[in-house]
Amino acid sequence: MQFPVILAIESSCDDTSAAVMAGGEILANVVATQQVHEQYGGVVPELASRAHQQHLIPVVQEALRRAKVDKSALDAVAFTQGPGLLGSLLVGSMFAKTFAQALDKPLIAVNHMRAHILAHFIRAPRPAFPFLCLTVSGGHTQLVIVRGPMDMQVIGQTIDDAAGEAFDKTAKLLGLPYPGGPHLDKQARLGNPTRFPFPVGAMPGYDFSFSGLKTSVLYFLRQQTTQNPDFVQENLPDLCASIQHTIIQTLLRQLIRAAQDNGLTQIALAGGVAANSGLREALTQLAAEKGWEVFIPDFEFCTDNAGMVAMTAHFQYEAGDFAAPLVSPDPRLKLT
Ligand code: KG4
Ligand code: ZN
Repeated sequence: MQFPVILAIESSCDDTSAAVMAGGEILANVVATQQVHEQYGGVVPELASRAHQQHLIPVVQEALRRAKVDKSALDAVAFTQGPGLLGSLLVGSMFAKTFAQALDKPLIAVNHMRAHILAHFIRAPRPAFPFLCLTVSGGHTQLVIVRGPMDMQVIGQTIDDAAGEAFDKTAKLLGLPYPGGPHLDKQARLGNPTRFPFPVGAMPGYDFSFSGLKTSVLYFLRQQTTQNPDFVQENLPDLCASIQHTIIQTLLRQLIRAAQDNGLTQIALAGGVAANSGLREALTQLAAEKGWEVFIPDFEFCTDNAGMVAMTAHFQYEAGDFAAPLVSPDPRLKLT
Protein backbone atom coordinates (compact mmCIF):
# COMPACT_ATOMS: atom_id res chain seq x y z
CA MET A 1 0.00 0.00 0.00
CA GLN A 2 1.36 3.43 -0.97
CA PHE A 3 1.96 6.06 1.71
CA PRO A 4 0.09 7.96 3.19
CA VAL A 5 -3.25 6.15 3.58
CA ILE A 6 -5.97 8.72 4.33
CA LEU A 7 -9.64 8.36 5.26
CA ALA A 8 -11.60 11.50 4.32
CA ILE A 9 -15.09 12.58 5.37
CA GLU A 10 -17.30 15.13 3.54
CA SER A 11 -20.53 16.34 5.18
CA SER A 12 -20.79 20.06 4.38
CA CYS A 13 -24.28 20.06 2.87
CA ASP A 14 -26.61 17.19 1.92
CA ASP A 15 -24.19 14.49 0.72
CA THR A 16 -22.58 12.12 3.23
CA SER A 17 -19.36 10.84 1.78
CA ALA A 18 -16.22 8.92 2.76
CA ALA A 19 -13.14 8.18 0.66
CA VAL A 20 -9.89 6.29 1.06
CA MET A 21 -6.73 7.43 -0.72
CA ALA A 22 -3.27 5.83 -0.68
CA GLY A 23 -0.25 7.70 -2.02
CA GLY A 24 -2.51 10.13 -3.88
CA GLU A 25 -4.44 7.30 -5.55
CA ILE A 26 -8.16 7.03 -4.91
CA LEU A 27 -9.15 3.55 -3.63
CA ALA A 28 -12.81 4.24 -2.75
CA ASN A 29 -15.24 7.15 -2.90
CA VAL A 30 -18.68 6.41 -1.42
CA VAL A 31 -21.47 9.01 -1.51
CA ALA A 32 -24.92 8.77 0.10
CA THR A 33 -27.14 11.49 -1.32
CA GLN A 34 -30.01 12.54 0.95
CA GLN A 35 -33.40 12.14 -0.74
CA VAL A 36 -35.33 13.64 2.20
CA HIS A 37 -34.99 17.24 0.90
CA GLU A 38 -36.74 16.66 -2.45
CA GLN A 39 -40.22 17.05 -0.97
CA TYR A 40 -39.27 20.48 0.46
CA GLY A 41 -37.76 21.85 -2.77
CA GLY A 42 -34.43 22.66 -1.04
CA VAL A 43 -32.02 21.48 1.65
CA VAL A 44 -33.51 21.59 5.18
CA PRO A 45 -30.43 22.02 7.46
CA GLU A 46 -31.80 20.15 10.49
CA LEU A 47 -32.87 17.18 8.37
CA ALA A 48 -29.47 17.18 6.69
CA SER A 49 -27.66 16.87 10.05
CA ARG A 50 -29.90 14.00 11.13
CA ALA A 51 -29.42 12.17 7.82
CA HIS A 52 -25.63 12.59 8.14
CA GLN A 53 -25.82 10.94 11.56
CA GLN A 54 -27.64 7.96 10.06
CA HIS A 55 -25.45 7.62 6.96
CA LEU A 56 -21.95 8.40 8.19
CA ILE A 57 -20.88 5.15 9.87
CA PRO A 58 -22.22 2.83 7.10
CA VAL A 59 -20.62 5.09 4.46
CA VAL A 60 -17.22 5.00 6.21
CA GLN A 61 -17.45 1.21 6.65
CA GLU A 62 -18.31 0.79 2.97
CA ALA A 63 -15.40 3.02 1.86
CA LEU A 64 -12.90 1.01 3.97
CA ARG A 65 -14.40 -2.26 2.68
CA ARG A 66 -14.20 -1.22 -0.98
CA ALA A 67 -10.65 0.07 -0.51
CA LYS A 68 -9.69 -3.19 1.29
CA VAL A 69 -8.08 -1.07 4.01
CA ASP A 70 -8.28 -1.84 7.72
CA LYS A 71 -8.65 1.21 9.97
CA SER A 72 -5.35 0.29 11.67
CA ALA A 73 -3.57 0.95 8.33
CA LEU A 74 -4.71 4.60 8.18
CA ASP A 75 -2.06 7.34 8.45
CA ALA A 76 -4.51 10.24 8.90
CA VAL A 77 -8.20 11.14 9.12
CA ALA A 78 -9.41 14.18 7.15
CA PHE A 79 -12.70 16.07 7.22
CA THR A 80 -14.37 19.11 5.68
CA GLN A 81 -13.98 22.00 8.14
CA GLY A 82 -16.09 24.45 6.08
CA PRO A 83 -17.67 26.33 4.46
CA GLY A 84 -21.06 24.65 4.75
CA LEU A 85 -24.04 24.13 7.04
CA LEU A 86 -22.97 24.21 10.70
CA GLY A 87 -25.02 21.18 11.81
CA SER A 88 -23.84 19.10 8.84
CA LEU A 89 -20.20 20.08 9.38
CA LEU A 90 -20.48 19.25 13.10
CA VAL A 91 -21.51 15.64 12.40
CA GLY A 92 -18.55 15.01 10.07
CA SER A 93 -16.01 16.85 12.22
CA MET A 94 -17.08 15.15 15.47
CA PHE A 95 -16.81 11.76 13.83
CA ALA A 96 -13.39 12.51 12.30
CA LYS A 97 -12.00 13.96 15.54
CA THR A 98 -13.21 11.02 17.62
CA PHE A 99 -12.03 8.43 15.09
CA ALA A 100 -8.58 10.04 14.78
CA GLN A 101 -8.22 10.21 18.55
CA ALA A 102 -9.32 6.59 19.06
CA LEU A 103 -6.80 5.43 16.45
CA ASP A 104 -4.13 7.88 17.64
CA LYS A 105 -3.72 9.25 14.09
CA PRO A 106 -3.25 12.84 12.93
CA LEU A 107 -6.22 14.92 11.88
CA ILE A 108 -6.43 17.07 8.71
CA ALA A 109 -8.99 19.91 8.37
CA VAL A 110 -9.91 20.64 4.74
CA ASN A 111 -11.47 23.69 3.11
CA HIS A 112 -14.40 22.53 0.93
CA MET A 113 -13.74 25.12 -1.81
CA ARG A 114 -10.05 24.15 -2.03
CA ALA A 115 -11.18 20.52 -2.29
CA HIS A 116 -13.51 21.27 -5.25
CA ILE A 117 -10.49 22.76 -7.05
CA LEU A 118 -8.01 20.01 -6.12
CA ALA A 119 -10.49 17.38 -7.41
CA HIS A 120 -8.67 18.04 -10.70
CA PHE A 121 -5.64 16.16 -9.36
CA ILE A 122 -7.43 12.88 -8.63
CA ARG A 123 -7.17 11.68 -12.23
CA ALA A 124 -5.39 12.73 -15.43
CA PRO A 125 -5.49 15.02 -17.33
CA ARG A 126 -4.35 17.41 -14.57
CA PRO A 127 -3.97 21.16 -15.10
CA ALA A 128 -0.51 22.74 -14.70
CA PHE A 129 0.05 25.65 -12.28
CA PRO A 130 -0.88 28.45 -12.55
CA PHE A 131 -4.44 27.92 -13.79
CA LEU A 132 -7.78 29.68 -13.51
CA CYS A 133 -10.61 27.73 -11.86
CA LEU A 134 -14.30 28.53 -12.09
CA THR A 135 -16.02 26.75 -9.18
CA VAL A 136 -19.77 26.58 -9.72
CA SER A 137 -21.95 24.69 -7.25
CA GLY A 138 -25.24 24.90 -5.42
CA GLY A 139 -23.67 26.97 -2.66
CA HIS A 140 -20.78 28.81 -4.30
CA THR A 141 -19.55 30.59 -7.41
CA GLN A 142 -15.88 31.61 -7.41
CA LEU A 143 -13.11 32.50 -9.82
CA VAL A 144 -9.76 31.45 -8.37
CA ILE A 145 -6.18 31.79 -9.59
CA VAL A 146 -4.49 28.55 -8.52
CA ARG A 147 -0.70 28.86 -8.22
CA GLY A 148 -0.21 25.70 -6.16
CA PRO A 149 -2.24 23.25 -4.03
CA MET A 150 -2.00 25.63 -1.05
CA ASP A 151 -1.58 28.88 -3.00
CA MET A 152 -4.95 30.11 -4.23
CA GLN A 153 -6.35 33.61 -4.76
CA VAL A 154 -10.08 34.25 -5.04
CA ILE A 155 -10.45 37.05 -7.61
CA GLY A 156 -14.24 36.97 -8.04
CA GLN A 157 -17.34 35.53 -6.41
CA THR A 158 -21.10 35.85 -6.37
CA ILE A 159 -22.56 38.73 -4.43
CA ASP A 160 -25.94 36.97 -4.05
CA ASP A 161 -27.05 33.57 -5.39
CA ALA A 162 -24.67 30.82 -6.51
CA ALA A 163 -24.86 29.58 -10.12
CA GLY A 164 -26.43 26.29 -8.97
CA GLU A 165 -29.02 28.24 -6.97
CA ALA A 166 -29.82 30.28 -10.08
CA PHE A 167 -30.52 27.02 -11.90
CA ASP A 168 -32.49 25.50 -9.00
CA LYS A 169 -34.58 28.58 -8.18
CA THR A 170 -35.55 29.37 -11.78
CA ALA A 171 -36.28 25.66 -12.36
CA LYS A 172 -38.60 25.79 -9.33
CA LEU A 173 -40.46 28.75 -10.89
CA LEU A 174 -40.98 26.54 -13.95
CA GLY A 175 -42.41 23.75 -11.76
CA LEU A 176 -39.42 21.40 -12.22
CA PRO A 177 -38.45 19.03 -9.36
CA TYR A 178 -35.56 19.77 -6.93
CA PRO A 179 -32.68 20.02 -7.60
CA GLY A 180 -33.74 21.68 -10.82
CA GLY A 181 -30.32 22.13 -12.50
CA PRO A 182 -30.17 18.75 -14.26
CA HIS A 183 -33.89 18.94 -15.26
CA LEU A 184 -33.47 22.43 -16.71
CA ASP A 185 -30.35 21.25 -18.58
CA LYS A 186 -32.28 18.33 -20.13
CA GLN A 187 -35.15 20.56 -21.33
CA ALA A 188 -32.72 23.24 -22.56
CA ARG A 189 -31.22 20.81 -25.08
CA LEU A 190 -34.55 20.87 -26.98
CA GLY A 191 -35.08 24.65 -26.89
CA ASN A 192 -34.04 27.95 -28.49
CA PRO A 193 -31.56 29.79 -26.21
CA THR A 194 -32.23 33.25 -27.69
CA ARG A 195 -36.05 33.13 -27.72
CA PHE A 196 -36.52 34.94 -24.36
CA PRO A 197 -33.78 37.49 -23.59
CA PHE A 198 -33.17 37.66 -19.81
CA PRO A 199 -30.63 40.08 -18.26
CA VAL A 200 -26.99 38.99 -17.97
CA GLY A 201 -25.75 39.97 -14.48
CA ALA A 202 -22.96 42.43 -15.35
CA MET A 203 -20.76 43.13 -12.32
CA PRO A 204 -17.56 45.17 -12.13
CA GLY A 205 -14.32 43.21 -11.67
CA TYR A 206 -14.80 39.47 -11.71
CA ASP A 207 -17.80 39.17 -9.37
CA PHE A 208 -21.13 37.55 -10.30
CA SER A 209 -24.79 38.31 -9.62
CA PHE A 210 -27.76 36.06 -10.35
CA SER A 211 -30.59 37.57 -8.31
CA GLY A 212 -31.65 39.88 -11.19
CA LEU A 213 -32.20 36.88 -13.44
CA LYS A 214 -34.38 35.13 -10.85
CA THR A 215 -36.55 38.25 -10.38
CA SER A 216 -36.79 38.86 -14.10
CA VAL A 217 -37.93 35.26 -14.76
CA LEU A 218 -40.47 35.54 -11.91
CA TYR A 219 -42.06 38.76 -13.28
CA PHE A 220 -41.94 37.53 -16.87
CA LEU A 221 -43.76 34.27 -15.98
CA ARG A 222 -46.34 36.13 -13.88
CA GLN A 223 -47.11 38.45 -16.75
CA GLN A 224 -47.30 35.69 -19.38
CA THR A 225 -49.36 33.24 -17.31
CA THR A 226 -52.06 35.84 -16.58
CA GLN A 227 -52.62 35.98 -20.35
CA ASN A 228 -52.10 32.25 -20.96
CA PRO A 229 -52.14 29.85 -17.97
CA ASP A 230 -50.43 27.16 -20.12
CA PHE A 231 -47.53 29.45 -21.10
CA VAL A 232 -44.87 27.49 -19.17
CA GLN A 233 -46.02 24.09 -20.42
CA GLU A 234 -46.19 25.31 -24.02
CA ASN A 235 -42.77 26.95 -23.95
CA LEU A 236 -40.77 24.87 -21.45
CA PRO A 237 -37.76 23.95 -23.66
CA ASP A 238 -37.33 27.54 -24.92
CA LEU A 239 -37.67 28.96 -21.39
CA CYS A 240 -35.07 26.50 -20.05
CA ALA A 241 -32.70 27.11 -22.95
CA SER A 242 -32.99 30.91 -22.53
CA ILE A 243 -32.39 30.78 -18.76
CA GLN A 244 -29.44 28.40 -19.16
CA HIS A 245 -27.98 30.59 -21.91
CA THR A 246 -28.19 33.65 -19.62
CA ILE A 247 -26.49 31.86 -16.69
CA ILE A 248 -23.72 30.61 -19.00
CA GLN A 249 -23.18 34.10 -20.50
CA THR A 250 -22.99 35.58 -16.98
CA LEU A 251 -20.31 33.03 -16.01
CA LEU A 252 -18.30 33.18 -19.23
CA ARG A 253 -18.21 36.98 -19.43
CA GLN A 254 -16.18 37.14 -16.22
CA LEU A 255 -14.18 33.99 -16.95
CA ILE A 256 -12.98 35.36 -20.31
CA ARG A 257 -11.94 38.70 -18.78
CA ALA A 258 -10.17 37.05 -15.85
CA ALA A 259 -8.27 34.70 -18.18
CA GLN A 260 -7.25 37.54 -20.50
CA ASP A 261 -6.28 40.03 -17.77
CA ASN A 262 -4.16 37.45 -15.95
CA GLY A 263 -2.68 35.77 -19.03
CA LEU A 264 -4.02 32.33 -18.10
CA THR A 265 -4.83 29.67 -20.71
CA GLN A 266 -5.26 26.62 -18.45
CA ILE A 267 -8.91 26.81 -17.47
CA ALA A 268 -10.52 24.47 -14.94
CA LEU A 269 -14.19 23.98 -14.12
CA ALA A 270 -15.26 22.58 -10.73
CA GLY A 271 -18.45 22.00 -8.69
CA GLY A 272 -21.79 20.37 -9.47
CA VAL A 273 -22.79 22.87 -12.19
CA ALA A 274 -19.77 21.65 -14.22
CA ALA A 275 -22.14 18.84 -15.23
CA ASN A 276 -24.20 21.31 -17.28
CA SER A 277 -24.07 20.28 -20.93
CA GLY A 278 -24.49 23.85 -22.25
CA LEU A 279 -21.62 25.14 -20.10
CA ARG A 280 -19.34 22.28 -21.18
CA GLU A 281 -20.18 22.89 -24.85
CA ALA A 282 -19.63 26.66 -24.59
CA LEU A 283 -16.29 26.12 -22.84
CA THR A 284 -15.13 23.61 -25.44
CA GLN A 285 -15.95 26.12 -28.17
CA LEU A 286 -14.16 28.93 -26.31
CA ALA A 287 -11.12 26.71 -25.84
CA ALA A 288 -10.87 26.23 -29.60
CA GLU A 289 -11.28 29.99 -30.25
CA LYS A 290 -8.90 31.22 -27.56
CA GLY A 291 -6.32 28.44 -27.47
CA TRP A 292 -7.30 27.45 -23.93
CA GLU A 293 -6.84 24.03 -22.41
CA VAL A 294 -9.99 23.16 -20.46
CA PHE A 295 -10.14 20.68 -17.56
CA ILE A 296 -13.34 19.20 -16.11
CA PRO A 297 -13.16 16.37 -13.54
CA ASP A 298 -15.30 13.23 -13.85
CA PHE A 299 -18.84 13.97 -12.66
CA GLU A 300 -18.27 11.79 -9.55
CA PHE A 301 -15.63 14.31 -8.43
CA CYS A 302 -17.54 17.48 -9.50
CA THR A 303 -20.47 17.16 -7.09
CA ASP A 304 -19.79 17.00 -3.34
CA ASN A 305 -17.61 13.97 -2.59
CA ALA A 306 -14.97 12.89 -0.08
CA GLY A 307 -12.52 11.95 -2.86
CA MET A 308 -11.70 15.63 -3.35
CA VAL A 309 -11.28 16.04 0.43
CA ALA A 310 -8.86 13.09 0.44
CA MET A 311 -6.88 14.62 -2.45
CA THR A 312 -6.57 17.92 -0.59
CA ALA A 313 -5.64 16.11 2.62
CA HIS A 314 -2.91 14.28 0.70
CA PHE A 315 -1.32 17.62 -0.26
CA GLN A 316 -1.73 18.88 3.32
CA TYR A 317 -0.15 15.70 4.70
CA GLU A 318 2.87 16.25 2.45
CA ALA A 319 3.08 19.86 3.67
CA GLY A 320 2.77 18.80 7.33
CA ASP A 321 -0.47 20.79 7.67
CA PHE A 322 -2.29 18.97 10.50
CA ALA A 323 -5.15 20.20 12.72
CA ALA A 324 -5.33 20.51 16.49
CA PRO A 325 -7.42 17.69 18.10
CA LEU A 326 -10.11 20.17 19.19
CA VAL A 327 -10.37 22.08 15.88
CA SER A 328 -13.89 23.49 15.26
CA PRO A 329 -15.90 23.45 12.06
CA ASP A 330 -16.30 26.86 10.41
CA PRO A 331 -19.44 27.43 8.30
CA ARG A 332 -17.89 30.57 6.75
CA LEU A 333 -14.35 29.32 6.23
CA LYS A 334 -12.62 31.46 3.58
CA LEU A 335 -10.30 30.29 0.84
CA THR A 336 -6.96 32.06 1.13
O1 KG4 B 1 -21.28 20.81 -6.00
P1 KG4 B 1 -22.67 20.36 -5.68
O2 KG4 B 1 -22.96 18.89 -5.73
O3 KG4 B 1 -23.13 20.82 -4.28
C1 KG4 B 1 -22.77 22.00 -3.66
O4 KG4 B 1 -21.62 22.10 -3.11
O5 KG4 B 1 -23.61 22.91 -3.71
O6 KG4 B 1 -23.62 21.15 -6.71
C2 KG4 B 1 -25.01 20.94 -6.75
C3 KG4 B 1 -25.59 21.93 -7.75
C4 KG4 B 1 -27.12 22.01 -7.70
O7 KG4 B 1 -27.49 23.37 -7.66
C5 KG4 B 1 -27.54 21.33 -9.00
O8 KG4 B 1 -28.77 21.79 -9.52
C6 KG4 B 1 -26.40 21.71 -9.91
O9 KG4 B 1 -25.25 21.56 -9.10
N1 KG4 B 1 -26.33 20.85 -11.10
C7 KG4 B 1 -26.58 21.30 -12.35
C8 KG4 B 1 -26.46 20.17 -13.21
N2 KG4 B 1 -26.14 19.07 -12.44
C9 KG4 B 1 -26.06 19.51 -11.14
N3 KG4 B 1 -26.87 22.51 -12.79
C10 KG4 B 1 -27.06 22.66 -14.11
N4 KG4 B 1 -26.98 21.64 -15.00
C11 KG4 B 1 -26.68 20.39 -14.59
N5 KG4 B 1 -26.59 19.39 -15.48
ZN1 ZN C 1 -19.59 21.67 -2.88
